[in-house]
Amino acid sequence: MYPLRRNRRLRTSEAIRSLVRETAITPNDFIAPLFVVEGKNKKEEIASMPNYFRFSLDLLEKEVKELWSLGIKSVLLFVKVPENLKDNAGTEALNVDGLMQRAIKTVKNAVPEMLVMTDVALDPYSAYGHDGVIADGKVINDDTTAVLAEMGLSHVKAGADILAPSDMMDGRIIEMRSLLEDEGFHETGIMSYSAKYASAFYGPFRDALDSAPVDAENIPKDKKTYQMDPANREEAVKETLMDIEEGADIVMVKPGLCYLDIVRDIRNAVDVPVAVYQVSGEYAMIKAAAEKGWLDHDAVVLEQLTAIKRAGASMIASYFAKDAVKLIS
Ligand code: PBG
Repeated sequence: MYPLRRNRRLRTSEAIRSLVRETAITPNDFIAPLFVVEGKNKKEEIASMPNYFRFSLDLLEKEVKELWSLGIKSVLLFVKVPENLKDNAGTEALNVDGLMQRAIKTVKNAVPEMLVMTDVALDPYSAYGHDGVIADGKVINDDTTAVLAEMGLSHVKAGADILAPSDMMDGRIIEMRSLLEDEGFHETGIMSYSAKYASAFYGPFRDALDSAPVDAENIPKDKKTYQMDPANREEAVKETLMDIEEGADIVMVKPGLCYLDIVRDIRNAVDVPVAVYQVSGEYAMIKAAAEKGWLDHDAVVLEQLTAIKRAGASMIASYFAKDAVKLIS
């Protein structure tokens, strides 16, 4: 006697497979990270991120229009800050005419309906490549959150819709939320990088922005005193629930692929949307393997993004956003 139930019946054709498919990725799922650089007519390829670029503001405008035409309706902005403007206080981060503030206006001007999210952290502005203010060999929490809140406010004043604090200081969300409320910005969203791990997968991003921690005496060599230990799972839920209490509208898990257990835990524990950041190292790995002919690029991209969504992501920040949307349309 053969089994009465044969699971392969529901896999016999693309028609039946698509009928029973549980997860679909669509252009609505994506946030496109964008790197911005000073200058004109600049489109600089990032060495460790093939086919990903830093754009000057004029070309950023073109890129954003293209993203919109493909159906991508959210961008997450990062800036490469000139070396001479970096210090230990985030001074340039508050400049109303700084590159980030001009980039926000450029995007809003090019495509007013585009949702503009901004990274809020000091590392691109830090002479030491850290996400906060440093004293006595330590990243000082409360001095940093005060600057971050002001930095966020300046982004909102420039037109940002959603602030994305990526620094992992304690209390940054309440500090930022309080300032926004005091200043009357009741509609501004906060997407908190709430479970952000001290990951080795951020390497190519730090190349893109030239923002890696510097190797100098009395400067922490890594970000392990503020970003989470990759060995911890329970702690991710605690971090995330605290950020929601403090006023985060969207929470995030970062990186993606190695942390899908965390994504599912958090999806089950919270009642707000959960974002996942498929980070630069994840992008680089696929590109490198595909370049060698060892992996099928397009198939692996779609499989990983589908897995991230299946794990519980409500949205995905991904350097593959454009590729993926072209592949699925
Ligand atoms: C800044 C920031 C980082 C990333 C996003 N925001 C780098 C870091 O924390 O060192 C990493 C993104 C990526 O690797 O794609 N705090």
